[in-house]
Amino acid sequence: MLRVVVLVSGGGTNLQAIIDAVKDGTITNAELVGVISNNYGVRALERAEKAGIPNQVISPKDYASREEFHKALLQGVDAYRPDLIVLAGFLVVIPEAMIDRYEKKIINIHPSLIPSFCGTGYYGLKVHEAALERGVKVTGATVHYVDKGTDTGPILLQKAVPVLPGDTPKILQQRVMEEAEWKLLPAAINQIANEAV
Ligand code: GAR
Repeated sequence: MLRVVVLVSGGGTNLQAIIDAVKDGTITNAELVGVISNNYGVRALERAEKAGIPNQVISPKDYASREEFHKALLQGVDAYRPDLIVLAGFLVVIPEAMIDRYEKKIINIHPSLIPSFCGTGYYGLKVHEAALERGVKVTGATVHYVDKGTDTGPILLQKAVPVLPGDTPKILQQRVMEEAEWKLLPAAINQIANEAV
């Protein structure tokens, strides 16, 4: 069984998609052993709690320096002895030490077709705002391995989603989540759990 830890920052709809996929057998050979949030009081923690998954907050606000926060985050992750770390809307830069220790064992979901609309400053709704501003007719989502760059690691899966007339950033975000993210992330975990990558 692949031991999976999920890192979150907010709503946790991608976490929910993973929880549901483990429950309904879309993901096999994997168990969710822990959820860590960098923010208190977010919906993602409620989702973890409801699913009976051990969960905790490791917030930079509780540490005197970024270095100490990074150390605590790495210790928190290590304690779950994960085989795979999933960044599901985790909007914190991953410490280099974690990337070294978990090389090819960290994946991220990004709400665009990389290499478009990715890198520093492109996260959450900002990605969809930029896509609409540029006037692209197709966007989508990408699951990729995490390396030391921002959204630069090897791509595992991508799915295209159309941009439609009248889209607002929120409408587009919802379509990208429903049609791409919530399917791609469970599919990637299932592939890794079954050594199909
Ligand atoms: C998702 O759209 C995810 O792709 C994005 O944040 C959202 C989190 O939603 N991640 C990034 O932008 C990473 N650069 P969720 O908390 O409901 O899963």
